[in-house]
Amino acid sequence: MTMAEFGIEALRWRDGVLELIDQRVLPHEERYLACRTAGEVAQAIRDMVVRGAPAIGIAAAYGVALAALAKGRADADVLAADLRCLAESRPTAVNLFWALDKMKARMAEAGCTPADLLALAAQIHADDIRMNQAMGELGAALIDGPCELYTHCNTGALATGGWGTALGVIRSAHAEGKVLRVTAGETRPWLQGARLTAWELQRDGIPARLACEGAAGSILREGAVRWVIVGADRITANGDTANKIGTYNLAVLARHHGVKFMVVAPSSTIDMAMESGELIPIEERPQHEVTTLKGLAIAPEGFAAANPSFDVTPAELIDAIVTERGVVLKPDAEKMRALMG
Ligand code: MRU
Repeated sequence: MTMAEFGIEALRWRDGVLELIDQRVLPHEERYLACRTAGEVAQAIRDMVVRGAPAIGIAAAYGVALAALAKGRADADVLAADLRCLAESRPTAVNLFWALDKMKARMAEAGCTPADLLALAAQIHADDIRMNQAMGELGAALIDGPCELYTHCNTGALATGGWGTALGVIRSAHAEGKVLRVTAGETRPWLQGARLTAWELQRDGIPARLACEGAAGSILREGAVRWVIVGADRITANGDTANKIGTYNLAVLARHHGVKFMVVAPSSTIDMAMESGELIPIEERPQHEVTTLKGLAIAPEGFAAANPSFDVTPAELIDAIVTERGVVLKPDAEKMRALMG
C-alpha cells in the first residue's frame, strides 16, 4: 500500500517542492507547507511541522536533494552548509544522521547528479513504508489474541513514510482481530497522542480512547492492557532506547504491573556506534512549551520549566525490539550485534 492509497501523506514531493502536512495544526486543519530549500526543511523539522524519527530522516533526505537541485551540483563540499543546517535541526533522532550519511555516501560515488539524490530520497521514503509493513506483521505476531494495548506519542503514518512503527503494529494487529481497544497517552507538551494518534486511530476505525499521562499507572493496574507499544528515536548498541518523554515512566509501570513492553523501529533507528543510552543527546526544548498551552499561560509569569523532549528506557525494561530485520526478545548487546550483522 502506498501513502497516497492509504490517505495520509506526511511528506510528498510535488513539482520540485517538498510538501509537509503541518502537524502543528492537526487534527483541526489539514494543510501542507511547501519547502523549497534545505533551510526551510531544517526549520520545518525544528518547528515540529514534520516530526517522528523516520519522517525527520526522510525530510532531511529530500532537503539535500532540494539543495543539490538548486545548485546544480551533487557534491558534499558544495552542499556542506546545507548538510550542516539539516544536521543541526534536532539532535536525538538518529534517522536524521543516518539519512544524511546515505546522501553523502551517494555523493561520494562517481557521476552522482542532483537527480540521483532525489531518486535516493524517494527510495528512502518508499523503503520506510515497506519496513513499517514488515514490522507491523512481526510485531502483531507477538500479540496473543484479542487484548487491550497502550501507546505513547505518535508513531503512525504521520511520523514515518507511511503505516507507522508502533502504530503500524497496532494497525496490523487490528487487521488480525487482536485489538479490543487502544489507549493513547496524550503526550504533553506537544500532545502528539491527543492530536495525531487519536486522529489516525479514528480514521482507521480502531477502537480507542485517550488518557492523560498521569492515568497510565491505574490503567495498567486494571489488567486489561497486555502490551505497551512505543516507537524509538535512537536505539543504542546494547538495546537502550530513547523515545518521547514519558516512555521510561511507562516501561517502569509496565514491568511493575506485568505488562509487556514492545519497541518498534526500523534498523535506521539503531545506532550501533553508540554503546549505551546515557550517551544519547537529549533535546531540551523551549520552556514556554510547558508553561503555555496554545499560547495561553498556564503557569505563573516567569516560572521555570524542564522540557526534555525524550527519555531513555534501559534495555532490561524492554521485552521486545521489533525491526524489519527481525525481533529481538529481551535485548542486550550480543543480540543487537547479531541482528545488525
Ligand atoms: O518529538 P517528536 O514528535 O518528533 O517525537 C516522536 C517520538 O518520540 C516517536 O515515538 C519516535 O520518533 C518514533 S516515530 C515512528
